Amino acid sequence: MSKPSLKIKTNSNFSDSIVEWYKIYGRHDLPWRNSVTPYKVWISEIMLQQTQVKTAIPYFKKFVRKFPTLRSLKNASEDEILSLWSGLGFYKRARNIFAAKEIIFDQFNGKFPTTFEKIIKLPGIGRSTAGAILSIAFNNGTPILDGNVKRIIVRHFDLPENTKDKELWNYSGIMLSKNDPFIYTQGIMDVGAMICRPIDVSCNDCPVSSTCLQAFKPKIKLRNNVKAVKPVIEMNLLLCRHDNELLLKKIDDQEIWRGLWIPLEKSVISKKIITNKTKLTKIEHHLTHRFLKINLYETHVKSKFKPRSNEESKWIHIKKIKKFAIPAPIRAYLENG
Ligand code: ADE
Repeated sequence: MSKPSLKIKTNSNFSDSIVEWYKIYGRHDLPWRNSVTPYKVWISEIMLQQTQVKTAIPYFKKFVRKFPTLRSLKNASEDEILSLWSGLGFYKRARNIFAAKEIIFDQFNGKFPTTFEKIIKLPGIGRSTAGAILSIAFNNGTPILDGNVKRIIVRHFDLPENTKDKELWNYSGIMLSKNDPFIYTQGIMDVGAMICRPIDVSCNDCPVSSTCLQAFKPKIKLRNNVKAVKPVIEMNLLLCRHDNELLLKKIDDQEIWRGLWIPLEKSVISKKIITNKTKLTKIEHHLTHRFLKINLYETHVKSKFKPRSNEESKWIHIKKIKKFAIPAPIRAYLENG
């Protein structure tokens, strides 16, 4: 098999080409790429785990406007972090940021840790995110293996689509630039996003096409190009209004929106509240892996039937709902009617 010798031979050419390419063509204007700090790299890498760059940009800007430094995040509540995440999805990431900053202040004196062993123990950080943080925040060469890097390696070395991650990690480690991991890591991310894309590939513009075993060959259609049928989640919610207040409940038993505030399940509310004036709006909303069908009922509650605020549900003045983490489709309804 000639592949292993090829990868050794191309290592420095490969990484040098990526580095030189990035200096000219890289996306230098991404907001997490100016005034780089370990804190901003961490927040951006968590946001980019399951969110596209284009979508993450406004959320990242809003997040660092509110919390520009790690120190400023010290006393943030989980709710505050979740409310900045509202609309971005995969809310576990926001809860992990809260949990990780608690550890950073409890155990590391408020300084972002600098070793792989400590970084990977923080909630929400796996091997690839730890590698990205080390390379970008500390210029400490550590490989990454996200979807873009996997695709580049599989194509460059013409590996089978089902190559195991263990082997891909080996390639990623060998390809990594030892001289300039900071630039290389951002460069390989950008080559994956801008050139070696899943379908619309630009081999003509690729800095490593001269050593790529699949360059200029038709690409096999990726399986994930086929639209999968997403599981449907159906919800029946009842939004109770009383004067200028709304009754919302913080969810603690559901994976997709845990920690967020939504109207109560219709089935748990006394039937007396529901009148023939109750309005129904059907909302459909796509998440990455789910399709939500929400039947959102809305009713004005008479004072005599008004349920009390309790530990789970609260009457919230409409002027204050901005401060609460509310899922995007519910927030859109509240704001636009
Ligand atoms: N995807 C994951 N991390 C990224 C980064 N720092 N820049 C651009 N895309 C990314």
